[in-house]
Amino acid sequence: MRTLEAVIFDMDGVLTETSHQHFLAWKMLAQKLGYDLPNAVNDQVKGISRLESLEIVLKAGNMSDKFSDSEKVQMADDKNAIYQSLIKEFTKENVSEGALELLKSLKENNIKIGLASVSKNAPFLLEAMEISEYFDVVVDPREIKHGKPAPDIFLMAAKKLGAAPENCIGVEDAYAGVESIKSAKMTPVGIGTKEVLSNCETVLSNLNEVNIEFLRRLL
Ligand code: G6P
Ligand code: MG
Repeated sequence: MRTLEAVIFDMDGVLTETSHQHFLAWKMLAQKLGYDLPNAVNDQVKGISRLESLEIVLKAGNMSDKFSDSEKVQMADDKNAIYQSLIKEFTKENVSEGALELLKSLKENNIKIGLASVSKNAPFLLEAMEISEYFDVVVDPREIKHGKPAPDIFLMAAKKLGAAPENCIGVEDAYAGVESIKSAKMTPVGIGTKEVLSNCETVLSNLNEVNIEFLRRLL
């Protein structure tokens, strides 16, 4: 029988609504380059690392081959500076609906909590939103060879938590993130819509709908 050992969360779009700020920053970068970034790109960059997202953004403006690697690094830095300016005033008010209650009850029930975000800004957000103390493990994305949809980051979180992947639940808002959870042989919970998360059996509109009993039944 499977027992719930750990819940491993994504950050952006799950614990806080930063997907909007990420996209806004990409949109501003595209504008500087002279094109309007279509809204459809928003879902394509969710869960995808900064440099890989830049490739998607440049492709949308037919600019894939226009820049050298060092120019791309500079553009990714520029996007990050815009993004950081958009999240600099985040506080505990920015924690997603239902997240704090869930984190508290997981802690009270001795279920381990991990963070599997590819964002290098995730530690800042954990501190700014005052939720660091709940996390037993925060995976450093620099330790990961392959980003989402590869299983690496969720597997690394489980390993560091000492939990068996089949006893872990992963919570994600991105298609690529759900793929990552599934290929790690964990059970996914999607936050968002079935339209975007067509690869996820359990999709909820927010964390308010999640409690431990519900998670145990999913395993
Ligand atoms: C998350 C977001 C992506 C973002 C990535 C890297 O996965 O969903 O949109 O590109 O993190 O974030 P960073 O803050 O390191 O640029
Ligand atoms: Mg996300």
